[in-house]
Amino acid sequence: MNRIFKFTILSICALSMISCGQSKTSSKGIIEENVDFASKQIGIEVENMNASGLVLNPRTIEKDGSTRYNTPELWTSGFFPGSLWYLYELTGDQKWKTEAEKVTETLDTVQYLTWHHDVGFMIYCSYGNGYKLTKNPNYKKVIIQAAKSLSTRFRPNVGAIQSWNVNKGWQAKRGWQCPVIIDNMMNLELLFEASKLSGDNSFREIALKHADVSLDNHFRKDYSSYHVIDYDTITGQVRGKVTAQGYADNSAWARGQGWAIYGYTICYRETKNPKYLEQAENIAKFLFNHPRMPKDLVPYWDFDCKDIPNTYRDASAAAVIASALYEMSTYSKDKGVQYKEYADKIVESLSSPAYRANLGENNNFLLMHSVGSIPHGAEIDVPLNYADYYFLEAICRKRELEKLAKN
Ligand code: GLY
Repeated sequence: MNRIFKFTILSICALSMISCGQSKTSSKGIIEENVDFASKQIGIEVENMNASGLVLNPRTIEKDGSTRYNTPELWTSGFFPGSLWYLYELTGDQKWKTEAEKVTETLDTVQYLTWHHDVGFMIYCSYGNGYKLTKNPNYKKVIIQAAKSLSTRFRPNVGAIQSWNVNKGWQAKRGWQCPVIIDNMMNLELLFEASKLSGDNSFREIALKHADVSLDNHFRKDYSSYHVIDYDTITGQVRGKVTAQGYADNSAWARGQGWAIYGYTICYRETKNPKYLEQAENIAKFLFNHPRMPKDLVPYWDFDCKDIPNTYRDASAAAVIASALYEMSTYSKDKGVQYKEYADKIVESLSSPAYRANLGENNNFLLMHSVGSIPHGAEIDVPLNYADYYFLEAICRKRELEKLAKN
């Protein structure tokens, strides 16, 4: 390992262990306890599925209390297999590999999907994590093909990947030409990986162009992010700065801020260009100095919702932010300790009975209290498979950091 990197990690971890010394549960305890809980809780889900003979992909709980399952083309289809891969990584138990492979491979057709941008989420969380752990050559092919499919949505006049089509569904009613949502920053990881695996640099170039155009247009002066930027497909000019899932066009939708901080952290990882780390750090400043960030660091679903404190928290936003912060903590020269402390606090909150379900309850999802889309009246105060995925990813990153500190 690069010596400076190792030194930074050691310093961060040593300092953070001192500063976290007063927490109720030791770091080791909270990691092991969560791994044990997740193995049991997701284990119940997997046993039920195996008993039914079906390979299912849970997403959330419906209003009638039943589990809603993904079909492959939904943006959330990569998260459950991704969680199974994280359980394999966290436990080393072959059982999880077998289960992860089964669900991952139901997404085979997604590599050819070109009608929305979420291919990055779907394929990177499933096949991407699977490839990292198994080096299965078929998974590599899927990742590269998926990057090709995603790249068909790159609009050179705009310099960004178009998120949604505008010819049908609720999007058609908005009069958009080329909507790009901040969530799209999360699809770039697939492109970076595909360039490394294929040697084709065009995926990486698209990712960087997209990141730069978003950096120019998606942020306000306080580094909060708009949700949707609509571009003119011919001139590339911004036509509108609006929202689809937030409280208002001008508000800071919590999960969007999570996608932004995570996305620019990936860009820094892949380029070491300080402007991306600076962006992620400025977003962190916005989040953690915000007067409406609750003490437990699990944000309300939108920082500008007028009903705060009488509105919903979003555990999924908190999990995304925690996972990003663990990675950022290894890059930041002077704020690393602080980022890890924030991430540890989020993990501690999400591990408490306020957010984490009881064993055998919550339709076997790990976390409660996430929000899908309040403006659409969809998935409000429910478990969501992406909250569970980023929570497990955060646990995995925390474990790696603390292991490094010991060695
Ligand atoms: N990418 C959709 C969402 O965050 O809800």
